[in-house]
Amino acid sequence: MKILVIGGAGYVGSHTVRQLVRAGHEVWVYDNLSRGHAASVPEGKLIEGEISDRAHLEAIFAKHRIEAVMHFAAFALVGESVAHPAMYYQNNVTATLDLLEAMRSAGVWRIVFSSTTATYGQPEKFPIAETTPQLPINPYGFTKLVIEHALTDYAKAYGFGCAALRYFNAAGASPDGDIGEDHDPESHLIPIVLQTALGQRARIGIFGDDYATPDGTCIRDYIHVDDLADAHQRALSHLEPGTNIQVNLGTGRGQSVLDIVEACRKITGHPIPVTLEPRRPGDPAELIADSSLAHRLLGWSPKYLEIEEIVDTAWKWHQSHPRGYAS
Ligand code: UFG
Repeated sequence: MKILVIGGAGYVGSHTVRQLVRAGHEVWVYDNLSRGHAASVPEGKLIEGEISDRAHLEAIFAKHRIEAVMHFAAFALVGESVAHPAMYYQNNVTATLDLLEAMRSAGVWRIVFSSTTATYGQPEKFPIAETTPQLPINPYGFTKLVIEHALTDYAKAYGFGCAALRYFNAAGASPDGDIGEDHDPESHLIPIVLQTALGQRARIGIFGDDYATPDGTCIRDYIHVDDLADAHQRALSHLEPGTNIQVNLGTGRGQSVLDIVEACRKITGHPIPVTLEPRRPGDPAELIADSSLAHRLLGWSPKYLEIEEIVDTAWKWHQSHPRGYAS
């Protein structure tokens, strides 16, 4: 299929592009490189542009006879969304609605959308199934929920075929160490801990140890980025006109912040000093996925289940790219 991967120079996008290319799809990456990396995109496949630029998108849809869109281009940091909600509403909602309109006028009806567990807020029951009420507690989660609703309505009214994939915590890197996670500034737990192991940071600050969890630190469900990429391919082949699915993607296992530090100590052999810091605004205490619907609908199940395996792939990337793509 001819696919436009929007935000394909980013972390999850770049890993998905690789799998799509290997599976024989004709792939183009559309990215403004505000957070993505040209070096992660296969040669000759990058088109620079803004998702709010309808005319540019419509021209690309026509020129390359695009049949499907995968949409990864969004701001995705909980803390940043609390501090700068306008950025999040503008990029994640307004510009995404522009993209949907460009698709509609070009007759491109298939879309796989990166959604998030942040749409659930802080549920009371675990694991989190798709039937769990979606009550976001930060602007990031709310912006993604708005687009999920828009997709539902576009599927019903205009025959779009839509899949919203609700990622839990994306982690790890391609096992060959060629592409991986590179954010500037980095705010995600595993890369920060591994940067500490590389000696780039003196210590890792733990954001709160007074949550209602067994060790007091927040629990997350870390899912390998290649498992997320695999779900995108499966979701794409599932799309028919009017398809409207939402699925969780996680391992169903939870790791606390301290568990992650411990796993990283084991893999890197570094003592990784920690300090205690105040809670970070917008952080839910615990997020663990029930991904059985993705298994039933898409035949998807994660290949990486042990956190050490996930950290090991991230560690390979960090060792071979200590300064990310600038290495
Ligand atoms: N944490 C620390 N110290 C740090 C960094 C993070 O203690 O220096 C903690 C956070 O407070 C949180 C946990 O580690 O409890 C994980 O934090 P991340 O920033 O790695 O990830 P988040 O859970 O905040 O968010 C990520 C993505 C979101 C997505 C969410 C889904 O950034 O886009 O996972 O759970 F919505």
